[in-house]
Amino acid sequence: MQNNIVLCGFMGCGKSTVGKLLANRLNFTFCDSDFSIEQREGCSISEIFSRHGEEHFRATEKEVVKELSAQKGLVIATGGGVVINPDNAENLRKTGLVIFLDVTPETVLKRLEGDTTRPLLMRDDKETAVRELLNCRKPIYKTAAHFTVDANHEAQKTVEEIIGLYRSDSL
Ligand code: S3P
Repeated sequence: MQNNIVLCGFMGCGKSTVGKLLANRLNFTFCDSDFSIEQREGCSISEIFSRHGEEHFRATEKEVVKELSAQKGLVIATGGGVVINPDNAENLRKTGLVIFLDVTPETVLKRLEGDTTRPLLMRDDKETAVRELLNCRKPIYKTAAHFTVDANHEAQKTVEEIIGLYRSDSL
């Protein structure tokens, strides 16, 4: 069984879109840590944040990441905060090739225009929040990942780039 491919990066960088296409191309199973959390909790990410708070969300996220890391043959789209926790990053790196999808704040703002599903960005100063949080997280994503790819362009191009990295890494 193949090792996993793990996609990390900021909200709106395309982890789910790219992940689904990638899994399809490589015949891997696609998983999304946020979706697994929602299934487990029986409600949306926004509801988890508003009802139980971020701390509870992060604890559930950590358990889900541990379970996903124990499997193989997966393309895992991680929530934007997953690899900020070093334990999560370590677990994912044990069984997976971790790829950071790097995007500019402008790309994030364009892709998430009108989005209401990201509790951390539900603020009047959304642009400042994106710029500050991305700036602070970017070095952490880079360190957590084995490779960084530019994900500002269309998803298919990012998929091809990741396949190239995956194949050269498996040689
Ligand atoms: C978060 C990103 C979200 C989701 C939650 C927290 C973050 O996932 O896990 O809202 O801390 O960046 P996406 O990156 O899939 O939007």
